[in-house]
Amino acid sequence: MEEKLKRPMKFEPYHPTGYGRLFDFSEDTILDWVDVLIHYLSPSALKDPDYWPDKPTNYRESLEAYGNQVINLVKVLMGILSKGLGLESSRLEEAFGGDEAQVVLRVNHYPRCQQPDLVMGLSPHSDGSAMTVLLHDEVEGLQVKKDDAWWMVKPIPGALIVNMGDMMQLVSNGRFMSMEHRAVVSSGTERISIVVFYAPTANAILGPIGIDQHHAIYKSIKYGDYLATYMNKELKGKERINSLLK
Ligand code: OGA
Ligand code: NI
Repeated sequence: MEEKLKRPMKFEPYHPTGYGRLFDFSEDTILDWVDVLIHYLSPSALKDPDYWPDKPTNYRESLEAYGNQVINLVKVLMGILSKGLGLESSRLEEAFGGDEAQVVLRVNHYPRCQQPDLVMGLSPHSDGSAMTVLLHDEVEGLQVKKDDAWWMVKPIPGALIVNMGDMMQLVSNGRFMSMEHRAVVSSGTERISIVVFYAPTANAILGPIGIDQHHAIYKSIKYGDYLATYMNKELKGKERINSLLK
């Protein structure tokens, strides 16, 4: 707690950073059963070193190295997906702002819960990012929605989980759909996940790319506006991206 209180969650317009809770809007909000730590990996203007924990002592070095590897992986995947959409391989990365893309690290800690059926670890949502890379421990908890049913993602040691985010759905005009997911908790074991969100720069104007605009099924938006709306409403499945349908 002493360490957490050194970096309490600060809510700069839409860049929450620090330890604490998200989506906590009023006394009546039903909170998800999770504590989070958030800090930026990139770009350097948002990467506030004071907000990177200094304990354990190898934290900064390890997370910096891990973050860089994840960013490299995301860039490779973006190149492949660009080509899959019939675009130049650098096109998606450029659309998201190149080196100005916002890369956020979020550590989720789901404590044990005596009545897990009464709470949600993380409410159903799709990520507002372009792509998300998740690493979790051996404890189950992440579920994805497919054919209107929830499926538990079986942890595989050493495996990374790659999720499409809403911005990929938008720029691909729905060819790559963002994945609805949630996290449940257990009475027996706590759970930790380490999530890297690769998101566009705040002033990127995004809409479907590489198609005749009269075929576009989504409106264009400024990513910063999308994020502001995203962070200021309860999580509700795919409501946010669906609101951009024309
Ligand atoms: C998230 C998320 C799931 C998990 O942080 O956006 O979906 O398993 N996390 O912690
Ligand atoms: Ni998520």
